[in-house]
Amino acid sequence: MKKSVTILGFAGSLRKTSYNKALLRAAMELAPKDAKLEIFDLEGIPPFNQDLEERMPDKVKEFKAKIRAADAILIATPEYNYSIPGVLKNAIDWASRPYGDNPFEGKPVAVMSASPGMLGGARAQYHLRQVFVFLSMHPLNRPEVIIPFADDKIDPRGRVTDEKTKEKIRELLKNLVDWARKLRGK
Ligand SMILES: Cc1cc2nc3c(=O)[nH]c(=O)nc-3n(C[C@H](O)[C@H](O)[C@H](O)COP(=O)(O)O)c2cc1C
Repeated sequence: MKKSVTILGFAGSLRKTSYNKALLRAAMELAPKDAKLEIFDLEGIPPFNQDLEERMPDKVKEFKAKIRAADAILIATPEYNYSIPGVLKNAIDWASRPYGDNPFEGKPVAVMSASPGMLGGARAQYHLRQVFVFLSMHPLNRPEVIIPFADDKIDPRGRVTDEKTKEKIRELLKNLVDWARKLRGK
C-alpha cells in the first residue's frame, strides 16, 4: 500500500467566519483517501522580531515542527490591499528563520484564495508565489483555485455550498498529492 501523504494547511485569516478557513475545512473532506490534511491556526503568532529568532515563541516552534513533518503545504489566503495579509507573511517570515533553518525548503505547496470581490484574491496568490521562490518551495501550477464572490458560494455557517468550487478543491488536493509523490519519488 502507498504511504499516505501528510498535508499541513493554514489560512491567512484569523477571522472566525473566514471564507478562506472554510476552503481549508472543505479541503479536509475533499482530500483523496491516501492523504491526511491537518489545519494549523496562525492565531497567537506574535509580530516577527529578529532579536527573538534564536529563542522563538512556542507557537512558532510548533508551527515549524508541523511544517517540517508535513509532506506538502496548503495555504488558503485572502488578498489584502492587492497583496498577502500581514498575518500570513509574518508567520512565513518567522518559520523561515533563523537563516539556514527553513522548514519550507523543497516542500510542494498549493494555494487557494477566496474573496467576496470579483478577482478572488488572485493578486495575493501571485505575490505568494514570489515568496515561494526564496523559500525554495515547489508550487503546484494547476488548478488555480481562485474563488470570487465567495459570499455566494460559502454559507453563513462556513460551509462551501458551490459544487464547482468543491470540484476545484478536490482537483487541487489530488494534484498536490500526486505532485508530492512525484517529488519524493513514490
Ligand atoms: C485590510 C483589508 C484589505 C482588503 N483588501 C482586499 C483586496 O485587495 N482584494 C480583495 O479581493 N479583497 C480585499 N479585502 C476584502 C477581503 O477579501 C474580505 O474581507 C475577505 O472576507 C477576507 O477573507 P476571509 O473571509 O478569509 O477573512 C480586504 C479586506 C481587508 C480587511
